[in-house]
Amino acid sequence: MKAIRIHDYGTFEQLKYEDVPVPEIKDDQILVKVYTTSVNHLDMKKASGEAKDTMPIQLPWIPGHDFAGTVEKTGKKVTGFEVGDKVYGNSDGNSYAEYLAADISKVVLKPESLDFAEASSVPHVGETAWQAIHTHGQLKSGQKVLIHGAAGAVGAFAVQFAKLAGAKIYATASTEDIDLVKSLGAGTVIDYKTTDFTTVAEDIDLVLVLVGGNTQEKSYNVIKQGGRLVSTTGPILEDLARDHKVTGVSMVIKQSAKDLQSITDLINEGKIQTDIALTYPLSEAATGWKVLSGKDSSLPHVTHGKIVLEVTK
Ligand SMILES: NC(=O)c1ccc[n+]([C@@H]2O[C@H](COP(=O)([O-])OP(=O)(O)OC[C@H]3O[C@@H](n4cnc5c(N)ncnc54)[C@H](OP(=O)(O)O)[C@@H]3O)[C@@H](O)[C@H]2O)c1
Repeated sequence: MKAIRIHDYGTFEQLKYEDVPVPEIKDDQILVKVYTTSVNHLDMKKASGEAKDTMPIQLPWIPGHDFAGTVEKTGKKVTGFEVGDKVYGNSDGNSYAEYLAADISKVVLKPESLDFAEASSVPHVGETAWQAIHTHGQLKSGQKVLIHGAAGAVGAFAVQFAKLAGAKIYATASTEDIDLVKSLGAGTVIDYKTTDFTTVAEDIDLVLVLVGGNTQEKSYNVIKQGGRLVSTTGPILEDLARDHKVTGVSMVIKQSAKDLQSITDLINEGKIQTDIALTYPLSEAATGWKVLSGKDSSLPHVTHGKIVLEVTK
């Protein structure tokens, strides 16, 4: 089968489109014929070697964490999936390939309303947002949440989950994304390029830090005592959290069919929108990585929406 692999740590220049064997499945796995996968920061982080100690990979490594496709074969102990089922989910690497051995604890049936490309844009960032809002953020109806990076792939889901939870939403985004973030459910959208959010937001129950820089540090000034701060982008500034009596959580996604099913139910009910910015064939995964890294000015600048890779036509 065709796959993208890296043979050494690095970035897009290491991505090789090549022939590799179709994976064998274990008894509790399904073989998925992958139609689409998507580009996530995590792929680039693991490939760079930056996460070697915390999230080791074995070289040669096939990147790719989320996927949508059909079940080609089921393991001996698998129940609940049949050959031909349309599925989507997460895996710990390996989805930049025509076939994937997927753990059934991370896979569910694809929402009927989404095509494969739309579906593969959901699992990694959708589950991250779900866990940030619910598992770690414990957001309740009537509470105030501030979501930094709200137009981004995780942020757009987080805004929609917060809206469904009945929260009052403050959000930060770029100028061109203000209307989009409002349309997803945020009441107050702050243009982070022109306005200091600490002059607008106050008495916040939960802050989601989905961006880097000094955003976490400044956020402690707007959280209520007893509030929470969830970061997807690095460790908690423990001294500041303690001084402001804030519970800080530096989270890492836990790939979960249960959470993905909750998201799927909402999608099937028409309550959640997905957003695709660009689509490339799998063989051009390197271009997708360059776009997401935002370092090549000759390529489009994406501020919202996912980059999808088409694996099988
Ligand atoms: N811990 C985990 O398990 C986990 C899981 C998924 C993602 N992540 C991390 O979470 C972060 C967000 O992921 P993503 O996929 O949503 O990224 P993304 O799609 O690239 O979105 C980032 C968004 O943040 C905006 N932004 C940048 N600087 C900002 C600032 N100072 N204030 C407000 N908005 C700002 C960007 O807009 P402009 O381009 O216009 O600046 C963009 O809309 C990444 O660092 C990713 O690595 C962690």
